[in-house]
Amino acid sequence: MMEKLLRNFFLFISHNRMITKLAKKYGFQLGASRFVAGKNIEETVNIIKKLNARGLVVTLDYLGEFVETENETVERVQQSIQTIKTIHHQKLNAQLSVKLTSMGLDISEDLVIENMRKILRAAESYDVFVNIDMEDYSRYEKTLGIFKTLRSEFEQVGTVLQAYLYRVEQDIRELHAYSPCLRLVKGAYKESTEVAFPKKKDVDENLKKLIRIHLQSGYYTAVASHDDRIIEYTKKIVKENNIPIEKFEFQMLYGIRPDKQEELAKEGYTMRVYVPYGTDWFGYFMRRLAERPANVLFVLKGLFKS
Ligand code: FDA
Repeated sequence: MMEKLLRNFFLFISHNRMITKLAKKYGFQLGASRFVAGKNIEETVNIIKKLNARGLVVTLDYLGEFVETENETVERVQQSIQTIKTIHHQKLNAQLSVKLTSMGLDISEDLVIENMRKILRAAESYDVFVNIDMEDYSRYEKTLGIFKTLRSEFEQVGTVLQAYLYRVEQDIRELHAYSPCLRLVKGAYKESTEVAFPKKKDVDENLKKLIRIHLQSGYYTAVASHDDRIIEYTKKIVKENNIPIEKFEFQMLYGIRPDKQEELAKEGYTMRVYVPYGTDWFGYFMRRLAERPANVLFVLKGLFKS
């Protein structure tokens, strides 16, 4: 009960603009540095190099979900292209993750497509893969539509499907017409029972189903979960179907289960760490607390240490 209340509380404040602004002002000391690698790309490069040296590969996310003007999206596009160039010049083993809201999804779909084309052209020239994160359900169809348009033009783009959605099995089958590289997750947003399974057990079962369908399709599968049962299930399906190691990978978030990340890398699996950076870290940080209110303890420790 308490856990559910805390979860709803963190999800509520994760998209509160006023609180986000205040948090940005009052800094990193709240404990966010456990989950957010740095405030700019320069600070973050060192962390990526350390992860790469430990056999872990990376996907980089420049944080920032609320964009209100076209001009703000221009800044986000430049930032993304800069990150792609940094990955290339610093020889980092890393990809880029982007959220379409930060490219102007709430302003105009045409704007997002134009912005993403600029990023994907840079990604093509510097040979960096770009993944489109999936946001809340109100943006789901638009995101899938934009992904399909971009995937018809570019090789190096993938997206995410969320197992908590009832409709996702039909969507994954339809997406197969686009030979997609997909990240499969449980889903991080608060959704209504009209569109999403309310029970964790059903979400877990649906994620397993998606993993099996996508692995068996032969398209590249990224299983993004910290859940041992999901990881073990993936290993079992891979073994039973003789899926080559180059056709799938595991993904986890920076700061969550780092020991397990290293263990999987040592076992020979591709283990990608999702590394967020930037000054706009508040919404991301609150969603991590919502997933696991026990993390509040880390935040409190951070507060007392500072
Ligand atoms: P679950 O939450 O059931 O946790 C299983 C176990 O993992 C827990 O019992 C605990 O041991 C450990 N654990 C989980 N979270 C933890 C935490 N915060 N701190 C410490 N331990 C923790 N979602 C989305 O809607 N759109 C997206 O684009 C993405 N992208 C994405 C990328 C990557 C790389 C990952 C790993 C996740 C996402 N997600 C996402 C988030 C995803 O939907 C989901 O909310 C989280 O991964 C938590 O679900 P798990 O599968 O980890 O299992």
